[in-house]
Amino acid sequence: MALETLLDAIAEQGWYVWDDFLSLEQVQSLRECVPQDWYRARIGRNDDLLQAKAIRSDRIQWLNSEMGLPVQDYLTRMEQIRCEVNRDFFMGLFEYESHFAQYQVGDFYKKHLDAFRGQENRKLTTVFYLNENWTEADGGELKIYDMDDQLIDTVAPVAGRLVVFLSENFPHEVLPAKAERMSIAGWFRTNGVTESRFDIAH
Ligand code: OGA
Ligand code: MN
Repeated sequence: MALETLLDAIAEQGWYVWDDFLSLEQVQSLRECVPQDWYRARIGRNDDLLQAKAIRSDRIQWLNSEMGLPVQDYLTRMEQIRCEVNRDFFMGLFEYESHFAQYQVGDFYKKHLDAFRGQENRKLTTVFYLNENWTEADGGELKIYDMDDQLIDTVAPVAGRLVVFLSENFPHEVLPAKAERMSIAGWFRTNGVTESRFDIAH
């Protein structure tokens, strides 16, 4: 069962690429929920937009269940993962927050960590891709590194693929997109800080 493979991989290496996490049909119905009103992603609680723009240039919209059934189904799948991870690893994951991200041609996200050990409560990152018919010419690959800055994997953002990794352990970057690139980035957190959302630690 695929969920067990994910749990094994998280235990052994801390990251996993799950192909065909959703079917193309499910990806298409999720795409129909993609919002029209995007805003520029920020990078911290006290960020300034100019600084943020040098680090990432994508646009985002936070997921909520009012966006439709496909989004609700997606969040249900994430809830299943949260429960299984907690059961296996006692990680105490408390809630999940996620946003659609749209990268237009030229958009990027420079190398960063989603959380710094001891400072943040993002523990497990998910990234799901919505790009049908992606080819190398479209760019926007996700590069994942270890804490010694050694490249671990280069992941193409192909439709249906889910990437999961420990938020504190894997610096990563998004190479410049050469075609529109759509994803859902999400984080399981250990407690309920909700009033000031931020997109990476700083
Ligand atoms: C992020 C992120 C990776 C991707 O939003 O924090 O690293 O492949 N996204 O979209
Ligand atoms: Mn990230």
